[in-house]
Amino acid sequence: EDTRKGGFAHYMLKEIYEQPQSFYETIRAGIDDRVRRMVMEADEITLVACGTSYHTALVFKYLAEPLCGIPVRVEVGSEFKYFTPPLHGLVIAVSQSGETADTIAALKMAKARNCPTLAITNMQGSTVTRVADETLLMRAGPEIGVAATKSYTAQLAALMQIVNLRCEGAFDDALSHAHLAIGDVLLQDIHEAVALCSKAEHVFFVGRGPFYPVSMEGALKMKEISYVHAEGYAAGELKHGPFALLTPETPVVAVCTPGPTYGVMASNIKEMKARKAPVIALGVAGDTELAEIVDIFIPIPNTHHLVQVLTASVVLQLLAYHTACALQRDVDKPRNLAKSVTVE
Ligand code: G6P
Repeated sequence: EDTRKGGFAHYMLKEIYEQPQSFYETIRAGIDDRVRRMVMEADEITLVACGTSYHTALVFKYLAEPLCGIPVRVEVGSEFKYFTPPLHGLVIAVSQSGETADTIAALKMAKARNCPTLAITNMQGSTVTRVADETLLMRAGPEIGVAATKSYTAQLAALMQIVNLRCEGAFDDALSHAHLAIGDVLLQDIHEAVALCSKAEHVFFVGRGPFYPVSMEGALKMKEISYVHAEGYAAGELKHGPFALLTPETPVVAVCTPGPTYGVMASNIKEMKARKAPVIALGVAGDTELAEIVDIFIPIPNTHHLVQVLTASVVLQLLAYHTACALQRDVDKPRNLAKSVTVE
């Protein structure tokens, strides 16, 4: 088994380190003509997914709506089946395994309503590929760790390519170089943040725009493998309840990168500091202004914001991983969880 882990302590860490390659391979594989046509013809897109795949679908919504002007709806598979919304346009099922029962059920409902359907999956020949009209295959390779890592970024590679296609190739350059930035953050020193999180009972993760689902995913990773209670929030929503929980023992991990929400994020961070919560901020390298107002500053490369979505996500995977290791958890096989959930 040690040789299959390639010298890494866990499959999860190995898979985190495989992300530059799996992202690059998924971009390189591109989108075939039938899928291209389907995507170009869609005047509305609904995505159905569960777990981590639900988070990539939400990132897609935050990118595709403002950048391509296309209405996007995202539904959790288990809700969709019983509370089916009126359906028009393309329905995309996002599933690493292609076998998640709730996602398959939702996909079948979309088919029954005569919607064109696309599966985005890592598993050729899986059930979603047989149900959907077309498949866009991610090239992550087998993922053994229960916590999704490289399949998450490979899903983003597939979904970002759809955004790029609808935006006439505007992000060709960003996407073709993204793997380099992903490689850079693998080496980021995060030990201070790990020390803080491994002592905490609760950790909040906050961001705005696409960094909101990135924060939800950061929190999911943290809770599933370290068992530290974590919640992902839209940064502006903390004051509507969670503020009551902020103490010097409740770290907040905030993603704050340049762009239209930078200023408002910085003032949110000051509000958290005023409630004495230690703040760990992910910001772009060289952002001394941000570094000064937070307790721990973790730099990510100053790249296109699509790429920052990826690098920030990878840093949060590492934070969850090292926190889980510090707490001596069974990282690759967290309690009560399965890699693929084939029951409703
Ligand atoms: C399980 C896994 C998660 C995964 C979810 C959806 O809960 O532990 O990592 O995100 O299922 O899986 P799918 O294969 O449909 O992406």
